[in-house]
Amino acid sequence: MLIRKPNDIRPSEITSEANYLNRRDFIRASAIAGGSIISSGAIGAIMPNSRLAPLENISKSFLSTNEIPNSFEDISTYNNFYEFGLRKSDPAANATSLKPRPWSIKVSGHAEKKGVFDFDEFMKPFDLEERIYRMRCVEAWSMVIPWVGISLAEVVKHYQPTSKAKYISFETLEDREQMPGQKGWSLDWPYREGLTIEEATNPLTILAVGLYGKVIPNQNGAPIRLVVPWKYGFKSIKSIVSIKFMSSQPKTSWNMANPYEYGFYANVNPKVNHPRWSQARERRIGGGIFDKKRETLIFNGYGEHVAHLYKDFNLQRNF
Ligand code: MTE
Repeated sequence: MLIRKPNDIRPSEITSEANYLNRRDFIRASAIAGGSIISSGAIGAIMPNSRLAPLENISKSFLSTNEIPNSFEDISTYNNFYEFGLRKSDPAANATSLKPRPWSIKVSGHAEKKGVFDFDEFMKPFDLEERIYRMRCVEAWSMVIPWVGISLAEVVKHYQPTSKAKYISFETLEDREQMPGQKGWSLDWPYREGLTIEEATNPLTILAVGLYGKVIPNQNGAPIRLVVPWKYGFKSIKSIVSIKFMSSQPKTSWNMANPYEYGFYANVNPKVNHPRWSQARERRIGGGIFDKKRETLIFNGYGEHVAHLYKDFNLQRNF
């Protein structure tokens, strides 16, 4: 076998990183021109394995809001992630014990394709998009976050759910060593969430893997978390290890903990108060003490995309 040494290789034979990236852009452009970008997954998400590494080949989404995003600092230091403690500052301080690699995701239930997939393999069929979304927490604060993610509708299509699949349930990792908060009693672990199949396949719903163009920080749900911008933040489950196609409504962590305060649907709705406080207004994190509270928008302002999903619903009862 002939092995060429580096000095036998002419510079013209070496593909620079820039050329390599251009070639990927060219393939992407050809795929878009041929209308095959969605179905073929021609580019595929390549996920770097180091903390906050930049992500490549991110396209911009027309579904983004024009509002100014919160700073990276706000987004990564004011978090809810009970697996790392109950205070907003706990996840940034404690989530260093989470190991986002190796990571695997189990896909199960009513689908043609199932299995346990290594995270990198799981990501390959999909393309990365930046989606700047307004996010609203049930505690009446909000942020604008430039997520990078993949369309959950594309993921669902890929695994080919059968006609029995009416819901999808998601579970977070359960590991007391990596997630010390699970040693406490705050919730029944693992953290669980669920969506109807219509909600999961709405174009707004994504699985996020990045923030501000970089790999998502541990405290925001590394390596992969759900983002559902018309629902209260608690629906956006972090650090997902299981996706299951189900025929009946799945159990969800907050509903199990307190069904009177937290419903399955959890749509942002200024008219349905949390039993202990009003949801009519919200405070934008990072706005400073002189920032006025703003009116909460029904479906967090995403009504044109999602109101049809709930047209026959009593939203007071199905909260
Ligand atoms: N996912 C897990 N596994 N554990 C949690 O405690 N908290 C939820 C949601 N996902 C939570 C979770 C709540 S209450 C909110 S408001 C959002 O994550 C916060 O996401 P962020 O920290 O990225 O803003």
